[in-house]
Formats: sequence, structure tokens, C-alpha cells
Amino acid sequence: MEIPIPPSKGPLVVASENGRRGALAAMELLRRGGSALDAAELACQVTEDDPQEHTVGYGGIPNALGQVQLDASLMDGRDLRVGAVAGVEGYGNAIRLARKVMEELPHVLLVGSGAARFAAEMGFRPQDQRTLPALDRWRQRFDELGLHLGEAELRHLVQRLTTPLHLEDRVEQGTVNFLVRDGQGNLASGVSTSGLGWKYPGRVGDSPLIGAGNYCDNRYGAAACTGMGEMAIRVSTARSLVLYLKMGMDLIAAGLECLRELERLEQVPGRYMNIVAMTPDGHHAGFSTVSGKRYLYFDAEMEEPALAPRMTLV
Ligand code: GLY
Repeated sequence: MEIPIPPSKGPLVVASENGRRGALAAMELLRRGGSALDAAELACQVTEDDPQEHTVGYGGIPNALGQVQLDASLMDGRDLRVGAVAGVEGYGNAIRLARKVMEELPHVLLVGSGAARFAAEMGFRPQDQRTLPALDRWRQRFDELGLHLGEAELRHLVQRLTTPLHLEDRVEQGTVNFLVRDGQGNLASGVSTSGLGWKYPGRVGDSPLIGAGNYCDNRYGAAACTGMGEMAIRVSTARSLVLYLKMGMDLIAAGLECLRELERLEQVPGRYMNIVAMTPDGHHAGFSTVSGKRYLYFDAEMEEPALAPRMTLV
């Protein structure tokens, strides 16, 4: 088992491995006295805007019909306020829209056409989220599998397109997570994704579902997930981890207990679930159902974000 990293003092950003650019932006804001909530939103936004990141925001791998549908959520550890959106099409920066849901509506989650309508009402400009490299990758998988749109009912195509053929078969199932503690000791968490590549239109993963892919409470800690969202939804991973902390487990025990719950699900080669977590006193850790995965952390005393291995059960 890995030796836990000592707790960080002051501002802290913990993220999935693809969160480097977002973490840099978040820490700059935190060093200027910004809030954890603003930093978590900004970090997600920076990742969403990166066309090279094919699992989040602009340039995400489309669903089975070639449409990009975005999911995101934001949670404020001070008061458990939440904003989330799912299946957003034709608009970018789902995390900013999630923040607007938190602040402008008596709701926590908007989906599909309602979310798009709300984006327009909030003054968001419509923007096609598809890029040529993402569409090339999307087409490439049809070619690899010898499949064509329209040759079979969509559910059968989705079954083939989204099921890895073997351990190394890459079916984009990523997301970005940011857990943030600010100089006041407040926590916030942000999660954003374009979801599982080649998903069935309207499929929603764990990222916008508070309790599954995202949870944050100033009193106990924060947790967020990347990977095959259906797994985290089925065992309520993010909320479970924070609840285990509340019930007195330490961070490592809480994360490993989440992995044990995930282990009970049927295992599909190439599918995995990752968790990042932090406590209010600055302990942090990453966990994964598969070996070789890493997470990122960055505190105010560091010059650069660093990567650390995620713990596994074996
Ligand atoms: N974890 C991202 C998703 O499953 O949509």
C-alpha cells in the first residue's frame, strides 16, 4: 500500500490527472484570495475550453449519433448548495451553467432542452462543441468495429461501441474532477465531462449526479469520480466516501471501502472507476479499481502540480 502524502496547509487543489491546466488557474485565483467555489468553477472551465481534452467540454467525444452532450456539477461545502446540468447540447462551459442553476433557480439539476433554454436565458452563446479531431476519433471507432450508423437499432450499436474489447481498448470514459480548499478553509468540488464516448443520446453519467460523481461538505471532506459513471451511480460513490468520513473512518479506509463496494459490481475489462478525495485538514488521496492510475495535487507551497499514485485494493 502507498504511504499517504502528508496533509497540505492553506489553499489546496486535488484533481484527476487531466486537471493540470485547471489546477494552475485555480491556484492562481486561490493565491489572490479567491473562494474555493470560484476556483473549482474556473478549473473546470479551463479544462472544458481545452480542445485537446477529449473527455470534457469542447472537443469531447460525441455520443453514438455524433452529438456532444455535456454534464457538469458544482458543490459548495459551506452550505451544501449544488448546481448541475446534464445532456447540454449546443452550448459550452457546462460548469458555468451549473453555477447559474445553483444561483438563479430553486432547483439543483437541469437536463437537455431545459438546460439549453436556460443557457440562452442566461446569455450563453450557442457553440458547436464538436471538433474535427474528436469527430475523426468518433468515426474511427465505427471503422475499427466495422459498424455503420443505421445498420442496426441504436441500442445494439451503443452496446458494441461502448464496450471495450480488451483491457487496452480505449473507450473514452474520462471526466475532470477538482476538489478545492481555499484560504478560509472552505471546500468546493467541480466535475465536468462530455460523458462516455459513443453513449446513447440522453445517457447521463455520474458527473452531474450529486452523491454519485461529486460530493462536498466542509465538515467532513470532498470526493469526486472519473471513469465509467454507471459504476459510481450504482453504489453512490462520492457521497459514500464522505459519509464514511463522517462516521469516523480515516480517508484511506473510506476510499478503500468505496473500492470494495465497486468491486461487487460485475467487472468489464477496460472499464474502471477512479476517486479523488480530501479532508478539511488537507489530507488527500486517490483510489482506483484498476492499477496504474494517478491523481494530481497542488498546494500553495508548491511551484507545480504533482502526480501521485491512486490506491487500489490489491
Ligand atoms: N464519469 C463520466 C461519465 O461516466 O459520464
